Amino acid sequence: MTNILISGILGHMGRNVYELAAADADVQCVCGVDLREDTFCGVPVYDSFDKVKEPVDVVIDFSSAANLPNILAFAKRTGCGVILAATGYTESDLAAIDAAAKETAVFKTANLSVGVNLLQKLVKEAAAFLGDAFDIEIIEKHHNLKKDAPSGTALMLAESANEGAGGAKRFIYGREGMVGAREKAEIGIHAVRGGTIVGEHEVLFAGEDEIVTLSHSARSKKVFAAGAVRAAKFLKGKPAGRYDMNDVLASL
Ligand SMILES: NC(=O)c1ccc[n+]([C@@H]2O[C@H](COP(=O)([O-])OP(=O)(O)OC[C@H]3O[C@@H](n4cnc5c(N)ncnc54)[C@H](O)[C@@H]3O)[C@@H](O)[C@H]2O)c1
Repeated sequence: MTNILISGILGHMGRNVYELAAADADVQCVCGVDLREDTFCGVPVYDSFDKVKEPVDVVIDFSSAANLPNILAFAKRTGCGVILAATGYTESDLAAIDAAAKETAVFKTANLSVGVNLLQKLVKEAAAFLGDAFDIEIIEKHHNLKKDAPSGTALMLAESANEGAGGAKRFIYGREGMVGAREKAEIGIHAVRGGTIVGEHEVLFAGEDEIVTLSHSARSKKVFAAGAVRAAKFLKGKPAGRYDMNDVLASL
């Protein structure tokens, strides 16, 4: 049995994770943490990690990057693993995550779907194969409540494309005004926001008279919640270090 704490349990993703965990005999949600005290489906919700009394194997975080120090401190104090699924981390957050991974099992990904994990590999291979003759542009679309832009997944895909292309690209976020002709070294990243779009990512390789498009479309938040529950089972009892979706998929 894997005891999980859902951080951000009262939000869209938190509720989805709770539902899937409740239907899984090997996982038990023992409590949640959110901005206000509450109970959710009979589970206590605390407004601070300091109030948690239940034994926790893994924290699944779908709250906000601002909550990171609280989650890492809780993990250090209790020895549990953490799944960092929120997006919008700063450079100093990323450094704190690396430092924490010396004593905590830290799983971090901006996208918990199996499909995006595959897309990352395909994008890297396509960038290496197509080379400088093809311009790379990434377009992501999300619902009108999403707070950060571009999406963490778009950045992940840009990193993969850059790796495939040899690591010399630079990211351009949207374009406006007299920006001049496009440079070969650019990877353009564009964010669209509207309605209830769950998450669309399109990576365009535009060459002379031909275009290759690799894309992924999430049709519901369940794909991310299922990935989180799967990752929690994987992370229980793992030694300190960094983990991601590749480790989970390789273990199946
Ligand atoms: N990794 C993935 O696969 C993936 C998939 C979907 C969403 N996300 C990310 O997950 C996060 C949450 O998405 P959502 O759609 O559920 O958002 P949401 O706004 O519906 O839910 C966030 C919840 O966290 C709570 N919260 C916010 N700040 C907090 C804090 N400092 N301490 C405690 N609780 C806090 C809010 O009260 C809310 O209940 C976002 O960063 C989003 O980008 C990641």
